Amino acid sequence: MEDFLKTLPQHTCSWSKGTVTFYKYQGFWNIQDFLEGEIIAQQSFKAQPNDIFLCSCPKTGTTWLKALAFAIVTREKFNESTSPLLTTMPHECIPFLEKDLKQIEDNHKNSSFPLVATHLSYTSLPESVISSDCKIVYIYRNIKDVINSNHHFIPAALNIPMEDVSFKETFDEFCQGISWYGPYWDHILGYWKASQERPGRILFLKYEDMKKDPKSNVKKLAEFIGYPFSVEEENAGVVDNIIKLCSFDKLRNLEVNKTGMHRPEDFPIENRLYFRKAEDGDWENYFTDEMKRNIDNLVDQKLSAGLNVT
Ligand code: A3P
Repeated sequence: MEDFLKTLPQHTCSWSKGTVTFYKYQGFWNIQDFLEGEIIAQQSFKAQPNDIFLCSCPKTGTTWLKALAFAIVTREKFNESTSPLLTTMPHECIPFLEKDLKQIEDNHKNSSFPLVATHLSYTSLPESVISSDCKIVYIYRNIKDVINSNHHFIPAALNIPMEDVSFKETFDEFCQGISWYGPYWDHILGYWKASQERPGRILFLKYEDMKKDPKSNVKKLAEFIGYPFSVEEENAGVVDNIIKLCSFDKLRNLEVNKTGMHRPEDFPIENRLYFRKAEDGDWENYFTDEMKRNIDNLVDQKLSAGLNVT
């Protein structure tokens, strides 16, 4: 692997004090650990027809989507008082393609649990996923809030003091496409083009729209993945209860998400870092007018598709 990595374009983030090197593979940047998982998944993962993929770039609302999808799929077994989400961080509830192949294979053999999460771009998905009819849900978010969320998350995950990290540098790197699983616009475009070519296969959810109108988006999600709510369930408040259970305030204040650790063995990150502010427009506290102009121009150039990400 080390020899292979040397053949790839690479970029070490200076603010990371040399600890974060991104490698560009198949058009997208990734860190070594996740890139290894990506390649293994590409070589060996066999999608099953019932698999449902939850796909996203990091910091776009992945944790929320995972919680909602998990609560929807498991609602016959658990309710808002018994859900594993109360004691398990959402990322641990759904296996991750780049890291948890064994668990996904076990699910294929032993259970009917259909959810699989990935940050891979569409074109980097294992061939068996692309050629299958599996459902794909893709969440995306305002690019400025994604940059801001990245800026806070990665240094904190690496225990680098925020005062040592320059927002300008994160911003410039992001605009060059260098970010975790970036370029962000190409990530979105890949799924968007695939959704145009095969209508009905990919559901696009926008983080900000979900916040504005969680109910209709959660119903849309449930319907799309094949777990629609019945009228009786709706009347009994099941949809509202799922929304409450998965809300930022509820999840953030759970003991597991305040003090627990995600992947303590191989890639430890404090759970609390996944629940920062969840405020739309927090970017305004960090962007200069020039940054705003630059990113708006960049998005105009790169994303002519009918998706609004600014
Ligand atoms: P901020 O950094 O802007 O606060 P991801 O889950 O893809 O890593 O995205 C993380 C972002 O989603 C963070 O944004 C985080 O606060 C927000 N978030 C986490 N859980 C959420 C929830 N249940 N509802 C809404 N936003 C949530």
